[in-house]
Amino acid sequence: MYYRADQPHGLKHNPFKALVAPRPIGWISSLSSDGTMNLAPFSYFNAITDSPPTVLFGCNGPHPEGGVKDTAANVRDTGEFVVNMVTADLKDQMNISSAHVSRSVSEFEEAGLTPVGCEIVSAPRVKESPVNLECRLVQIIQLRSSSPKVVNNLVIGEVVGIHIDERILTDGMVDIAKYRPLARLGYMDYTVVEETFAMNRPD
Ligand SMILES: Cc1cc2nc3c(=O)[nH]c(=O)nc-3n(C[C@H](O)[C@H](O)[C@H](O)COP(=O)(O)O)c2cc1C
Repeated sequence: MYYRADQPHGLKHNPFKALVAPRPIGWISSLSSDGTMNLAPFSYFNAITDSPPTVLFGCNGPHPEGGVKDTAANVRDTGEFVVNMVTADLKDQMNISSAHVSRSVSEFEEAGLTPVGCEIVSAPRVKESPVNLECRLVQIIQLRSSSPKVVNNLVIGEVVGIHIDERILTDGMVDIAKYRPLARLGYMDYTVVEETFAMNRPD
């Protein structure tokens, strides 16, 4: 089948997210300018460079109370955020933290997670997550939106500090079988990365 992206696809559900899969989940913690801690998952997320390490995520759509989502507002106001990686055993807490709650509510509390201080940025990190990337905002790019209700903000951040729980390491290497990162598929589906294989490059 083929469909133009601006025309109806004719399927039961939009297949786009199921096609670009799996996607890692950046669990973004941030601090509002009045000091409220915020946490939300983003699967339009990835790493894009490694010297320096840089990540990006798409913070799209409105906040139910109006304006942009808390994450985009906090990152814009403070210039900082933390990417906490989601593992299989944190799936329920991640899901709870995605609820559309009032700006004054901290998803850390809602999900029963422990905020701990960072080394460089003021935003808190999730203690229960084995990988935390402290980030400084590089740029927010507002992308075209095809809906008047949706604002599409592409947030780019430079990673300035990296926390790794040594329990996910074997012989100094990240051990995927211990790490078990959660990834998003389409619809309401997820997968856990547990198996790997290696392949050398041709040159
Ligand atoms: C697994 C998962 C992935 C998500 N990915 C995104 C995403 O990439 N972009 C986005 O805008 N919202 C995404 N959401 C929805 C946000 O997490 C949700 O709107 C959240 O309430 C935003 O919180 P905030 O207002 O505190 O920033 C996702 C939700 C889940 C459960």
